[in-house]
Amino acid sequence: MHHDYIGGLLEHTVSVAEICRFLSAHYEGVDGDLLVAGALLHDIGKVEELAYEGTFDYTDEGRLLGHLYMGAEWISSECDGLGGFPPGKKILLKHMILSHHGELEYGSPKRPKTLEAIILHFVENMDAKANAFTEAMADLREGARWTEYSRMFERYLFSGKFE
Ligand SMILES: [Fe+2]
Ligand SMILES: [Fe+2]
Repeated sequence: MHHDYIGGLLEHTVSVAEICRFLSAHYEGVDGDLLVAGALLHDIGKVEELAYEGTFDYTDEGRLLGHLYMGAEWISSECDGLGGFPPGKKILLKHMILSHHGELEYGSPKRPKTLEAIILHFVENMDAKANAFTEAMADLREGARWTEYSRMFERYLFSGKFE
């Protein structure tokens, strides 16, 4: 849906982490370490959800389980492997992964219920949308000012240029 090119996941992840680091100082009461950790890990499941052989495709596990569940499960076992990882922190981190799509209809089994999860959801959504907009503009036909109908945005997008 966004950043769909080699290196795109890393670019998105670093961008989300940088914005979250900025926002952790901007809003009061944010656990900055938790927010940045969630930002860095939120899409980690995509590494196993997707495969690349000339084009991107979903793996069987990806189609069946999805990157939110896969990421949460992965983080869970890594936390357990560390030994002594605070149980509450683990739950908060997993909550951020599972809720980052924001709504049940977008594949999140839980909607964001902590300040860090709410911020992460909006930041990652904004980053995805800004990238998708830029990509749509790059794909504009020569001389075109409006994009084709965008399924992601459910609208036509404007280049900002008048005739
Ligand atoms: Fe995601
Ligand atoms: Fe994301």
